[in-house]
Amino acid sequence: MKTSSLSILTLSIFLFLSLPSLSLAERCNPKDKKVLFQIKKDLGNPYHLASWDPKRDCCDWYVVECDPNTNRINALTVFQANISGQIPAAVADLPYLETLVFRHITNITGTIPEAISKLVRLKTLRLSWTNLTGPVPASLSNLKNLTFLELNFNQLTGSIPPQLAQLTNLGAIRLDRNRFTGEIPEEFGKWTGSVPDLYLSHNQLTGSVPKSLGNMNFSTIDLSRNKLVGDISFMFGKNKSTQSADYSRNMFEFDFSKVKEFPASLVSLDLNHNKIMGSIPASLTKVDDLRAINVSYNRLCGKIPTGGNLQSFDVYSYLHNKCLCGAPLPAC
Ligand SMILES: *[C@@H]1O[C@H](CO)[C@@H](O)[C@H](O)[C@H]1NC(C)=O
Ligand SMILES: *[C@@H]1O[C@H](CO)[C@@H](O)[C@H](O)[C@H]1NC(C)=O
Ligand SMILES: *[C@@H]1O[C@H](CO)[C@@H](O)[C@H](O)[C@H]1NC(C)=O
Ligand SMILES: *[C@@H]1O[C@H](CO)[C@@H](O)[C@H](O)[C@H]1NC(C)=O
Ligand SMILES: *[C@@H]1O[C@H](CO)[C@@H](O)[C@H](O)[C@H]1NC(C)=O
Ligand SMILES: *[C@@H]1O[C@H](CO)[C@@H](O)[C@H](O)[C@H]1NC(C)=O
Ligand SMILES: *[C@@H]1O[C@H](CO)[C@@H](O)[C@H](O)[C@H]1NC(C)=O
Repeated sequence: MKTSSLSILTLSIFLFLSLPSLSLAERCNPKDKKVLFQIKKDLGNPYHLASWDPKRDCCDWYVVECDPNTNRINALTVFQANISGQIPAAVADLPYLETLVFRHITNITGTIPEAISKLVRLKTLRLSWTNLTGPVPASLSNLKNLTFLELNFNQLTGSIPPQLAQLTNLGAIRLDRNRFTGEIPEEFGKWTGSVPDLYLSHNQLTGSVPKSLGNMNFSTIDLSRNKLVGDISFMFGKNKSTQSADYSRNMFEFDFSKVKEFPASLVSLDLNHNKIMGSIPASLTKVDDLRAINVSYNRLCGKIPTGGNLQSFDVYSYLHNKCLCGAPLPAC
């Protein structure tokens, strides 16, 4: 008698403590959970997602995050995983995603799913260091809240969609280390809103740099290692806030003496391996914060101007020009 009432009491305490907590504990939205299982299946049930266990709250799973207010999945961050296959189109069925990352996954192949363009809440999209191929969907320009777009270190091809310039909140756009062809879109000189740091290096871009880019205040611009030609003297100017500019390893050809003013903010300027002629403008000595310069492998002539920082760099900043002279190179 005594024993059984005690055990009933124990049982009811147990039920009171455990049952409600079990049902309350599941914060995960069932729609999101279903989509995540589809993603796991599409990726071939990889070991990396072993914690994606139906018995556990999906808000506690590895590589995902839930918004603390809505309990909807707002981040999917897959990094350095042994995963093979394509990026599942099902990721686009997680409508509350603000962060979507697939990075450093060699065996991710296929194309960028167009459906990602539905994820209008996305702020960060990083699909990088994978073996993605094919073009960048122009419809990514729907993602108006994007502040960071990184598609670098892939095998992407085709031309760069001009529509990306409609992304007015971007802090940086990284399209470097791919196989893009064609010209830099003229629209990349018409960013309204924030002007992103622009990384287009290590592609196969051709043509000249659109004049419109000269109107932009890029803090960082990297066009290095492409097949670009022509004059870029309009990319400089005292009025700009550029800190880092890399135009190296292209086929730019212009008279450097034409550049009258440099951005006072300039910290690093790389022009190596082009066909730049004329002499180094004296105004470059007025750039107090210049920490790095490389004009090597061009067709420059004349004396390296004195009076500023230009003598603080070693010969490797100036080597292989037509007839450049003066410290740190041998006297004229
Ligand atoms: C990638 O795929 C290859 C061939 O299927 C496999 O040998 C390799 O282990 C996979 N994973 C990684 C991380 O390389
Ligand atoms: C990647 O996973 C595959 C299949 O699960 C396995 O055979 C391979 O050894 C793994 N590779 C690495 C580098 O861990
Ligand atoms: C792409 O795949 C090749 C061959 O599997 C591999 O050597 C290379 O590192 C991969 N690229 C990236 C960026 O992971
Ligand atoms: C975009 O961001 C703004 C400001 O953070 C926010 O108010 C708005 O709801 C966001 N739009 C979408 C579609 O999430
Ligand atoms: C400097 O830039 C501002 C803002 O774009 C512009 O209004 C002004 O005319 C420019 N000044 C010179 C000297 O270029
Ligand atoms: C660039 O930005 C600086 C500082 O933010 C501003 O003073 C300058 O007018 C801008 N120049 C142009 C060309 O927009
Ligand atoms: C300048 O570029 C050349 C060619 O790539 C390189 O050899 C040299 O080391 C660079 N100089 C500096 C100071 O980085």
